[in-house]
Amino acid sequence: MIKQAIIPLAGQGTRLLPLTSVFAKELLPINGRPGVEYILDECIEAGIKEIIFIISKKKQIIKKYFYSDTLYKNVIKKKKDPKVIEEYKKILKYKKMIKFVYQNKPKGTGDAVLKTKKYIKDKYFLMLLPDDLIMKYNCSKSMIAMHKKYKSSVMASMNVNKKTVSRWGIYNLSKKVSKNNFFIKEVVEKPSIKNAPSNKAVIGRYILPKTIFKKLLRQKPGKGGEIHITDAIQSLINENEKFIAHNFAGKYLDCGTMSGFIKSNIEIGKL
Ligand code: G1P
Repeated sequence: MIKQAIIPLAGQGTRLLPLTSVFAKELLPINGRPGVEYILDECIEAGIKEIIFIISKKKQIIKKYFYSDTLYKNVIKKKKDPKVIEEYKKILKYKKMIKFVYQNKPKGTGDAVLKTKKYIKDKYFLMLLPDDLIMKYNCSKSMIAMHKKYKSSVMASMNVNKKTVSRWGIYNLSKKVSKNNFFIKEVVEKPSIKNAPSNKAVIGRYILPKTIFKKLLRQKPGKGGEIHITDAIQSLINENEKFIAHNFAGKYLDCGTMSGFIKSNIEIGKL
């Protein structure tokens, strides 16, 4: 069973400047709730028991969000507002599950994953990228079911407009596994339109094997000088680790760009 999830939260959020010059993008409200809470709820509902947040010193505000006990206790003592009590209970529930590790230099998602190495207990773990919200359908839950059935790694996937391939990890398929699930042959991080193997993109949900840490330890910086999880995944595929692309059923919201963030607020409001 997959019991642990990791969430990289140390990114600088340059696509959301100027907001991110002073604030963590993952706490920006989407329809009145910090984006990261949607991700936490997805994990809990999928049966995850422990969540590792990879933050940085610059993003301590994320930890503070879950450690404001004194503030809550004082407010509740003065005025027994049921709404505040309910919010505090929710924060306590999240806090119990979260462990914090640090990535102080923005060296990429692969490097962020490596920071969790000594905490991962089982053979496989889940990773969720907080820029990507998937609503109405629990993508992590269906990926965990796929993993259970085929004992392989899984990534969420979606067809994107060919013009936007350089925004994503792009893969091509080998065999069909079942309806909406395919084995991946090759995956490339943010290719140019010319070099893209398809228009099939990796979306921010991954079930990864613990063996990826060995690859990451030796992983050279790739696109943009960063250490990419995508490149480590390709090394594992080269050694016959099976990766399934799972075309999820939910509604995808890209909260990592300003236009996507604005659209996400409107879309979630409508759900
Ligand atoms: C990351 C991954 C990329 C993936 C994308 C999904 O990119 O590196 O392969 O397609 O998430 O959102 P980032 O959003 O960190 O630029």
